[in-house]
Amino acid sequence: MTTSYIIDAVRTPRGRGKAGKGALSGIHPQELFAQVLKTLQRRQGFDAREVDDVMAGCVSQVGEQGANLARSAVLAAGWPHEVSAVSLNRFCASGLQAINFGAMGVASGAMDLVIAGGVESMSRVPMGSDGGGQDGNNTHLRQSLFQVPQGISADLIATLEGFSREEIDAVALRSQKNAARAIEQKRFAKSLFPVKDPFTGAVVLERDEFPRPDTTAEGLAALKPSFVALGETVSGPKGETLDQLALAAYPHAKAIRHLHTAGNSSGIVDGAAAVMLASERYVREKGIKPRARIRAMTTIGSEPVLMLTAPAPASQKALRLAGMKASDIDLWEINEAFAGVVLQTTRTLGIDPARVNVNGGSIALGHPLGATGAMLLGTALDELERTGKQTALITLCVSGGQGIATIIERL
Ligand SMILES: CC(C)(COP(=O)(O)OP(=O)(O)OC[C@H]1O[C@@H](n2cnc3c(N)ncnc32)[C@H](O)[C@@H]1OP(=O)(O)O)[C@@H](O)C(=O)NCCC(=O)NCCS
Repeated sequence: MTTSYIIDAVRTPRGRGKAGKGALSGIHPQELFAQVLKTLQRRQGFDAREVDDVMAGCVSQVGEQGANLARSAVLAAGWPHEVSAVSLNRFCASGLQAINFGAMGVASGAMDLVIAGGVESMSRVPMGSDGGGQDGNNTHLRQSLFQVPQGISADLIATLEGFSREEIDAVALRSQKNAARAIEQKRFAKSLFPVKDPFTGAVVLERDEFPRPDTTAEGLAALKPSFVALGETVSGPKGETLDQLALAAYPHAKAIRHLHTAGNSSGIVDGAAAVMLASERYVREKGIKPRARIRAMTTIGSEPVLMLTAPAPASQKALRLAGMKASDIDLWEINEAFAGVVLQTTRTLGIDPARVNVNGGSIALGHPLGATGAMLLGTALDELERTGKQTALITLCVSGGQGIATIIERL
């Protein structure tokens, strides 16, 4: 294996993911990803014919996000027919998975130039639109394993870990404050580009639309838990509720404490992002100075009912592959799918919370499922450069009980 280099990273702002309300909800998801491709090309000036493959993570691949979205995005960008493209789904890890697969292609010598990232328009293709639920409605699998929705898993984690509502809300408040500071200090400016209406060319969104910089601890504490009614939904073959099905796997929890709210869960948003990955050969021939290299990348599975606890073992596996210790990582991006996930991961790894999500995360900024991994990597890279630091680890929890981790090193 040789090295895979990160040449550049760009992203759209995240728009509120509500149909008719969010600024990006009028834009077809293919067009969002096409604008990412065109922006990277404009910034780096490469000939699109040199791109060996375009890889796009996208979770809800039906309707407007069906039909191999990445290929139509290539065509919508006006790139030559020769440029191939693939869309992939590893749930919330999809955007980072696209980068990992692209980096593997480059490092293996099979590819020289890959554009990899992801997109999700949660306003136009809402979460769950593919009708697969948690398990593709496989009633045979359900006889041995009943998987519950992620909101229930997040509350189960908080219950088992004994987290208080105050601790959970403190993660959310920090996300909002860090995101507000990052926006005020223009820390996202390097990667962010304005999204335009594909028909008129008018700018529709220039900055992240989801953050609530005036969030207070009192405001967060006043919010009602979001997943109580979901937990009471009868879903099991013997009339069990979702809470009862989750507790059947963890009887010692006794009762699920529903702590996650609209304020301390990741936001529903629209957005797209990608990075440009290149081989040693490409970098040498073009005389390009890469911004960073991929040092390690991995995935791992975990128990599927608890579902969201694999970021810690995925991170440990990536560190092992890189020959590093957790203390060697300068910056951590732990996806804020739910505040409890960040707390559980940070504590399990024994890392300094001051190094985690220093510019906010998906609670304040939103989590456009297929795009988030690529956005987090770009944010980490920008922050490494801004602060002169060296290494970052990006990790996300994944539906079905999986985790992903990628370590990048600035050059
Ligand atoms: C938790 C969840 C169900 C909440 O959905 P929602 O009720 O539609 O949430 P909204 O963002 O519209 O917020 C609802 C209200 O909460 C309040 N609120 C939200 N954030 C707040 C904050 N930081 N401070 C104070 N009030 C806040 C507001 O009153 C808001 O209403 P408004 O937008 O009209 O002002 C949804 O965000 C969710 O499912 N998140 C997780 C997504 C997910 O599972 N992703 C995959 C991860 S594995």
